[in-house]
Amino acid sequence: MLRELRDFGGAFRDLERHVDRSLARLGAPGLHELRICGGVLVCEVEQALSQPDGVGAARLVLGEASGQLSKGGGERAGDCRRGPARRGGRALPESRRELAEGEVPKTHSPTIRGRLRGLFRLNYARRRGNEHEGGRLGVQVETVRSVEVPTRIVHGLGALGRLRELAAELGMSRPLLVTDRGVEAAGLTAPALEQLPHAVVFADVFPNPDVELVGRASAVYLEEGCDGLVALGGGSPIDTAKAVGVEVVHGGSILDYEYDHTPITNRIPPLVAIPTTAGTGSEVTLWSVITDHERQIKFNVGGTPLIGAHVALVDPELMLGLPPAVTAATGMDALSHGVECFTCDYHQPFNDAVALQAIELVGRWLRVAVNDGSNVEARTHMAHAALLGGMSYGTESAGAAHAMSQSAGGVHDCPHGALTARVLGPVCEYNMIAAPERYARIAVALGVKADAVAGIEELYRLTDDVGIPTMEQLGFSENEIPMLARIAYEDPQSIGNPREVDVVGYEEIYRNAFSRGKR
Ligand SMILES: NC(=O)c1ccc[n+]([C@@H]2O[C@H](COP(=O)([O-])OP(=O)(O)OC[C@H]3O[C@@H](n4cnc5c(N)ncnc54)[C@H](O)[C@@H]3O)[C@@H](O)[C@H]2O)c1
Ligand SMILES: [Fe+2]
Repeated sequence: MLRELRDFGGAFRDLERHVDRSLARLGAPGLHELRICGGVLVCEVEQALSQPDGVGAARLVLGEASGQLSKGGGERAGDCRRGPARRGGRALPESRRELAEGEVPKTHSPTIRGRLRGLFRLNYARRRGNEHEGGRLGVQVETVRSVEVPTRIVHGLGALGRLRELAAELGMSRPLLVTDRGVEAAGLTAPALEQLPHAVVFADVFPNPDVELVGRASAVYLEEGCDGLVALGGGSPIDTAKAVGVEVVHGGSILDYEYDHTPITNRIPPLVAIPTTAGTGSEVTLWSVITDHERQIKFNVGGTPLIGAHVALVDPELMLGLPPAVTAATGMDALSHGVECFTCDYHQPFNDAVALQAIELVGRWLRVAVNDGSNVEARTHMAHAALLGGMSYGTESAGAAHAMSQSAGGVHDCPHGALTARVLGPVCEYNMIAAPERYARIAVALGVKADAVAGIEELYRLTDDVGIPTMEQLGFSENEIPMLARIAYEDPQSIGNPREVDVVGYEEIYRNAFSRGKR
C-alpha cells in the first residue's frame, strides 16, 4: 500500500468527480474535499454530527477513503462502506442520535462522571465502528481538558548526588528502595544507599511486575514502617513502587485499582523515581502497568496525578551500562509513546510539543546510544526522550500499539519496548490514512521529508537498525494471531487510536508485524 500511495498521480479533477459519483451511487454523504496531505490521498465526506450534552464537542473523522482508491480508476476498495445517511452532509439518521444520547447522568459526582464518560466513549466509538464496518472514527473528546504534571523533574549528569537532600525535603527518613537484581548487579544500588542510610531494600522486582509482587513489596513497606518510596530501575521497579504506594494508602490489592474500577482517592506516599533505562517515562507518567497472570493481561492503574512520582531524578550516568538490546527496546518504547500520543484522538498542544521533541531525540540519538553505550551525549538525549515521551501521555491512553503490546505482554513474558517496537510500524501503516498530516510531521521529526509514508519507512529502518527481535524471537507464533487480535481489541488503549480498529484490523496489523524483521 505504501508504494501505491507514493506512485499515485493522475488527473485530480477527474478523480474528484469520480469519487463524488461513486459516493452518490453508494448513498453516502457528499464529497467535502479530496486532498493529498502528508503524501496520502484523503477523501473527506460531508457529515453532520450531533453532540451529546455534558460530554463536549466531538470530532468525527468519517469516511476517509485514502489509500483505498486504486491508482488508475479511482475505485474504492470497499473499506469505508457507508451507512444509510443522505447525501450532502445533512441530518443524521435517528439511530445515530440515539447513540449520542448515551450521556452520563448528572446525578453522579464529577469523578464518577469522568469515569463513566470514558466507558461511554469506548462504547460510542465501538458502536459507530461496527455501524460503519471499518470507517475511521474519532472518539468523544471533552472540550475542557487539562494537563497535570505532579512531578518535579531534577536532571543532569550526577543528579543522583541530590537524592539525600530530595528525600529529606519530602520528609522521608525510612524509605523503601524498590529495585531489581539487574540494577543491583550493575552497581547502581550501592551509590543510592550511600545517601539513604536508613532505607529498607526490596530488590525482588522482575520485568513486567505482577499483582503478587506488588502485594509482597507492600507488606515489606508496612512491616518495616517505611515513610516513603525510592524507585531505582526501569519501568518495572518504578511501576512496582507506584503500585505499592496505591496499596499502602488505600488498602486492598492493586487489582482493585485497575483503571475504571475502584477509584484512587489518596495521594501515594512520597516517591522519588530514578530511571536507569531510557524508555517507559514512568518517572513522569500517571500510570503503573501490572501483570495479572490469571487473566493473562497487563492492566493499567492510574490516570490521576495522585499516583505520579513526587520527584523524577534523572541521571543519564546511570544508563551508561545499559546493554544494547535493552537500550534499543526501551528507546523504541519512548518513540512509541511520542508517536502514539501525537496521533491519538486525545492529543492536545502541550502533549504534541513534548511528543514531537521525544520523537526527534530518538530519531537522532537512539542508533548512537545502541552502538556506543558509553556516549554520554547520546545517553543524555535518550534520557530526555524517555521523559518527554512519558509526559506526552497525560491522563489518557496511547493507542493500538500499546493495546497490542500490553495485552500480548500478559501472554508471553517479553520486553515491553521490543514488543511495542515490533508492532509500532504496522500500527502506523494502518493508522496513517486517519491522520496523514500528523504522520507527516512525525516524518520530519525523524529527519526525513514531510511525507507520512517516508516517515513510516524510516521508523521501520530504525526498528531494524537497532536490532529489534522478530515476533517469533519474542515468543509468539502466527497461529496465536486470532487470540492476540481479540485481546488487543479488548484493551482500553484501543479507544484513542486515530483509526477505528476492530478484531479484523488487529489481525491485519499482527500479520504485518509477523512478516517484519526477517531477513
Ligand atoms: N508506567 C508507565 O507509564 C509505563 C509505560 C511504558 C511501559 N511500562 C512498563 O514498564 C516495564 C518495562 O520497563 P523497562 O522497559 O524500563 O524495563 P525493566 O525495568 O523491566 O528492565 C529491563 C531489564 O534491564 C535491566 N536494567 C535496568 N537498568 C539497567 C542498567 N542501567 N544497567 C543494566 N541493566 C539494567 C533490569 O535489571 C531488567 O533486567 C513494563 O512492565 C512495561 O509495561 C510502564
Ligand atoms: Fe510503552
